[in-house]
Amino acid sequence: MPRLQVVGSEGKGASERVDARIAAEETRSLLRFLTCGSVDDGKSTLIGRLLYDSALVYEDQMRSAEHDSRRAGGGRGGTLDLAFLVDGLEAEREQKITIDVAYRYFSTPRRKFIVADTPGHVQYTRNMATGASNCDFAVLLVDARSGVLTQTRRHACILSLLGIGKIALAVNKMDLVDFDQARFEAIAEDFAGFSAELGFELVTAIPLSALKGDNVIAPSAHMHWYRGPTLLGHLETVDVASSGKERPFRFPVQWVNRPHLDFRGYAGTVASGKIARGEEVVIHPSGKRAHVARIVTADGDLDEAQEGDAVTLTFAEEVDVSRGNIIALEAGAPSVADQMAARLIWFDEEPMLPGRAYTLKCGCQTTTATISNLKYKLNVDNLDHVAGKTLEFNEVGLCNLITPKALVFDPYAENAATGAFILIDRFTNATVAAGMIEFGLRRATNIQWQELFVDKAARGVLMEQKPCVLWFTGLSGAGKSTIANTLEKRLHAMGRHTYMLDGDNVRHGLNKDLGFTDADRVENIRRVAEAARLFVDAGLIVMVSFISPFRSERRMARDLFEDGEFIEVFVDTPLEICEARDPKGLYRKARAGLIANFTGIDSLYEPPERAEIQLDTSKATPESLTEAVLGELRRRHLI
Ligand code: ADX
Repeated sequence: MPRLQVVGSEGKGASERVDARIAAEETRSLLRFLTCGSVDDGKSTLIGRLLYDSALVYEDQMRSAEHDSRRAGGGRGGTLDLAFLVDGLEAEREQKITIDVAYRYFSTPRRKFIVADTPGHVQYTRNMATGASNCDFAVLLVDARSGVLTQTRRHACILSLLGIGKIALAVNKMDLVDFDQARFEAIAEDFAGFSAELGFELVTAIPLSALKGDNVIAPSAHMHWYRGPTLLGHLETVDVASSGKERPFRFPVQWVNRPHLDFRGYAGTVASGKIARGEEVVIHPSGKRAHVARIVTADGDLDEAQEGDAVTLTFAEEVDVSRGNIIALEAGAPSVADQMAARLIWFDEEPMLPGRAYTLKCGCQTTTATISNLKYKLNVDNLDHVAGKTLEFNEVGLCNLITPKALVFDPYAENAATGAFILIDRFTNATVAAGMIEFGLRRATNIQWQELFVDKAARGVLMEQKPCVLWFTGLSGAGKSTIANTLEKRLHAMGRHTYMLDGDNVRHGLNKDLGFTDADRVENIRRVAEAARLFVDAGLIVMVSFISPFRSERRMARDLFEDGEFIEVFVDTPLEICEARDPKGLYRKARAGLIANFTGIDSLYEPPERAEIQLDTSKATPESLTEAVLGELRRRHLI
């Protein structure tokens, strides 16, 4: 919560004026906006100007704030705590990306403003996009000397992706180009040419100098050729009300409220539309129906609830509803799908990897999601669609996503509240991307599970064994395949039914289209994990021997199996030993620069933290290590 301490100036007899102001305040609208643009284009100076130059109005506001905080039992003497002025933002921010965005408040007699200040290096689109997701309007800054830069265009793209329809192009530092009209017009034209495709409803170019104060609050004495509004004048009057088209009712269930046995309510905030008592609703994704019995709030029941209301709904019928479900009306149902096309803004320094599982949060729904393919990425300089396999830091692209269970959503363009999501790295917990759903690719209901008469357990009984997978991971030359091979031979001799999936072999067939980039290795492991699952389902004891260098994919593989079925075997041989052994002569080639992306040399290996079995091959023979694995399988009652 941003805290601002201001030395107040208490005027005598001010209280009546303050009371009048508080009354007037109710009618003033609120504009949330952000400032963005390239580094050094003058963002902080501009915010400073807006906040402190509107001192007159601001000071008035201080008094009314002080009055409020005194009424609330806070604020004493000459200092004042304005934190409560940004009340209500906290809950909102919780749902969004928690990141370094400070919200600053100021007001004039015409309007109240919240400006999203995104500190840190502005080149981090993460802060900028986060700020934008809470705003209705943006001020895009350009340095009059340098004009429209790549970063300006990138920010314009992101604003458009996030659905901000109206922006001001603040051509700053006009004092440094001698307040030159031609320079201003050239920049405004350049931007208009670029942004035409981005579909902004309104772009207002304003020449100003944040440092000198020209055209920020008061009209400039140096630019008589300019007849448009000052920046503040524009902020005070720009109309950002939505088009008026009523959006369908959406109620994402935040939690199930069950204080005692005879009360069961579903709490959340109406994301859009409205609902009345007695209406029939549909619960998604189950599709079950129910009638609204009560709309409960802390201040008593309501007959009707609308967008923004935090309420608890109860139903006349007993139905299954859980957190993350979305309640809607029959008309205008949301999409339910397990595959969707979405735009992604990639925030992380680690590139996006198709096939990797990320955590997806969409409103109150949390699931894993993999990006099945990148359709194209956007060249932010000319908006061209560029082919590519991954998204790098700060890039924007259109992807297909797959979720293991159906997601309930709306296309972002129709409803930002139910169409936006974030992706989180499952190990670092970093927010790696913001996403906007374009459309569902397939109704999840079109493909169902075919029920089979013979299942894994039945097959296992016939073979007199418990199916499982032994997942060998380690560097190339660590000894994975040697031990896995010896193990299979021993199991076979014991009459067990087995199968072996070896990296080199599988790469000759199923995976022969894959190389050794990070993205290809992710896909390599995804496929072999799915194949291993099929073999385990067939009742076999399966040995998988793949470098499988990344924790994320080993975790993804583990998640495909039931508890106790997945045994990770870390063949822990240090790089120096693998390299000294060099059974295939590959390390030598890699060191000579003949092989790129070689694991342990110029490609990452992430050792397991909690493998079920860890084998130190420097001290023991493959036979004795095989015995150790067999011992562990017996201990786990798998053989
Ligand atoms: S993984 O990283 O995607 O799991 P996988 O186990 O399938 O790798 O394949 C590794 C085998 O491919 C190695 O044992 C080695 O014989 C061969 N290989 C060829 N090029 C490379 C490389 N750049 N990095 C690692 N292994 C390579």
